[in-house]
Amino acid sequence: MSDAPRIVVLPGDGIGPEIVAATRRLLETFGSFEFDERLLGGCSIDEHGTALTDEVLEACRAADAVLLGAVGGPKWDTTDPAAPRPEQGLLGLRKGMGLYANLRPVRPSPALVGASPLREERIAGTDLLVVRELTGGIYFGDSGRDGDRAHDTCEYTAAEIERIARTAFEAARRRAESSGRRPRVTSVDKANVLETSRLWREVVGRVAPDYDDVALDHLLVDNAAMQLVSRPADFDVIVTENLFGDILSDESAMLTGSLGMLPSASLGADGAPGLFEPVHGSAPDIAGKGIANPLATFLSAAMMLRHGLERPDEASRIETAVDAVLEGGMRTPDLAAGTLATPPMPDVPAEVEVGTAEMTDAVLAALAD
Ligand code: IPM
Ligand code: MG
Repeated sequence: MSDAPRIVVLPGDGIGPEIVAATRRLLETFGSFEFDERLLGGCSIDEHGTALTDEVLEACRAADAVLLGAVGGPKWDTTDPAAPRPEQGLLGLRKGMGLYANLRPVRPSPALVGASPLREERIAGTDLLVVRELTGGIYFGDSGRDGDRAHDTCEYTAAEIERIARTAFEAARRRAESSGRRPRVTSVDKANVLETSRLWREVVGRVAPDYDDVALDHLLVDNAAMQLVSRPADFDVIVTENLFGDILSDESAMLTGSLGMLPSASLGADGAPGLFEPVHGSAPDIAGKGIANPLATFLSAAMMLRHGLERPDEASRIETAVDAVLEGGMRTPDLAAGTLATPPMPDVPAEVEVGTAEMTDAVLAALAD
């Protein structure tokens, strides 16, 4: 038996296969990995009529970690409730692997601060983490349609809330070790309206005394959406339920102006394999053109090394290399669009537009430095 970590690779649809292939090249510079490539999403629907087969789910459960590209595309868009949808593959994996904690760090790369839709003085210093509950709430509650009436049910148990609250408090503690800041958790709910939110707030408050070094505050979700735009740099860890987390994590991602840069990790119980994927989608409009931005997947591989394989030094090396390449001026078209118009400034290297392969070569070269 080899010691090489077993990674199930799910390239998915659209640009997924391109960015995942680039990431395999990156990982291979850190030694050997046993990659097991499988179908998920639209490509699996085409082949098997379902977005996630039992066989693929079993392979994922038995792996050391799972690396995912992206799923979906117009080919499989449908409102027919009976037709299979690529997203069902993702939701099936989350539930089937017990991945209840989704971590989405938002830290604009210093070289890209100018791409933010916010003024530089607002976005400067932003470094936050969205901890989203991923296997409960309205995503997985009872739903149905009866003629002109439809329903989706939001349900949470205290146990589900407690474990995600602990994930958030522990993440805040870990982040403080490197930042030196007092750790803070902001719990987001809609306790003025929803019973599940009142239970949420109560349980988070009950867990908090176990982490008395971590400051805790509560925000209503509408207020949180507003504060994220007006004072993003004041947030540390945000913990929230599934649907609110879906919305707030996209909002947080856009703060940086570079959705193409953001990684994520979905984690389950201690020791169980995690799932690592970029936050952006499958970008079918640019698939196959060799211009997809592989950086969010590289950073997801870094999260895999850190959270999934306990190889934090290699994770930091990838993050540093990505920052260095951006500082050097390299931009895939999605990043260039927002910033190329900036007039050249002294001491700032000119921006160069590159494709997936050149960007990958540049990160590999920066790693070798
Ligand atoms: C995400 C996505 C998914 C979600 C979709 C594709 C089902 O938006 O990972 O945030 O809503 O969770
Ligand atoms: Mg989303």
